[in-house]
Amino acid sequence: MDLYEYQARDMFRKHGVPVLPGLTATTVEEARTAATRLLSDGAELLVVKAQVKTGGRGKAGGVKLAYTAAEAAEKAEAILGLDIKGHIVKTLLIASGADIAEEYYFSILLDRSNRRYLAMCSREGGMDIETLAKERPEALARVPLNPVIGINDQVAREILTQAGFPAERQDPLIPVLVLLWETYRDEDATLVEVNPLVTATDGTVWAVDGKVSLDDNARFRHPEHEELVDRATQDPREALAKEAGLNYVRLEGEVGIIGNGAGLVMSTLDVVAMAGEDLGVKPANFLDIGGGASAEVMAKGLDIILGDEQVRSVFVNVFGGITACDKVAEGIIGALEVLGDSATKPLVVRLDGNKVAEGRAILQAANHPLIHMVETMDDAARRAAELAAEAVASQPAQN
Ligand SMILES: Nc1ncnc2c1ncn2[C@@H]1O[C@H](COP(=O)(O)OP(=O)(O)O)[C@@H](O)[C@H]1O
Ligand SMILES: [Mg+2]
Repeated sequence: MDLYEYQARDMFRKHGVPVLPGLTATTVEEARTAATRLLSDGAELLVVKAQVKTGGRGKAGGVKLAYTAAEAAEKAEAILGLDIKGHIVKTLLIASGADIAEEYYFSILLDRSNRRYLAMCSREGGMDIETLAKERPEALARVPLNPVIGINDQVAREILTQAGFPAERQDPLIPVLVLLWETYRDEDATLVEVNPLVTATDGTVWAVDGKVSLDDNARFRHPEHEELVDRATQDPREALAKEAGLNYVRLEGEVGIIGNGAGLVMSTLDVVAMAGEDLGVKPANFLDIGGGASAEVMAKGLDIILGDEQVRSVFVNVFGGITACDKVAEGIIGALEVLGDSATKPLVVRLDGNKVAEGRAILQAANHPLIHMVETMDDAARRAAELAAEAVASQPAQN
């Protein structure tokens, strides 16, 4: 999970990393109020910053200076609603401005290819780090970290020396690097980046921009991270699936897919992609309801997929195991009953494995107009793709 700058700042503050005071705002009036408060608290300069999860906001006109509350409101008006690389600005950070003397770059990241943590540091911060790494790689120090030690004073000094900081400039930066390491370690991050880390004209050091990515695999250790999830921009179906404990990823296509077991679902995506190639349809999602999935889980999964307007047909591909085919068949019928008239999309069902005869008999007996029973996976994939293509042809998507 990537954080917004204002969330990263809160996290920095919690760990003692120096950040300037700031407040968020979602309207021009809130921005004016925030600016008034920061000015009355002693700020002489303000920055109005777009809160979007992408870099290069400054260049895109998403970071503007202001000296008065009226000016901050004016800048807020200009930035709210701005499209920055496909991200629409809905939230602003109004922060105190630093009187910047120098801008540096510093980051800690998980270097997967080398299976270790890596610190990167440069005296030339503020700019796009990819450009710097390409054009002047010698200006960017890369220091592998021992995961047990991380960054202590000595390691911080080593990093700064490699980045070309003279000894007398290192002292005020050392504790900040150590605190950023502690943030990275204690929050289970995969990235902590400060660009720019600045020295003000009075010599104080500030993290003026912050980017943090958290390791979702460590979420169980951090119940407090739950509130950082951005529900507004999260795909509503992915949120529903997550709540239900389902493994779901939304894709671009028209054929909804449900299966039990990640391997089976992956190969189902492949056969549907192949079957749909000439028909112009693709898999709409990945949904694994798990090896021992119950009928209720099947119903939940169907509910999520049938409610997706891009889905035109659904392929239910189940290999009965712990949950036998008869239970799965009952789950499918039960789900269709619950959905009632709102279920209008054809369901191609392929059952195999434990109690397959019973499962098929249940579906046969139900004789539901939306259910198409097909025996083999390939035939079922083809049927689902054809049904989706027919639906698209008779009623093209509106957009
Ligand atoms: N609080 C601040 N005080 C003074 N200048 C700032 C402040 N925040 C940002 N800036 C200036 O704006 C530039 C871009 O802001 P930044 O937060 O790094 O956004 P981005 O990296 O998305 O462009 C910084 O390099 C810095 O020069
Ligand atoms: Mg930046």
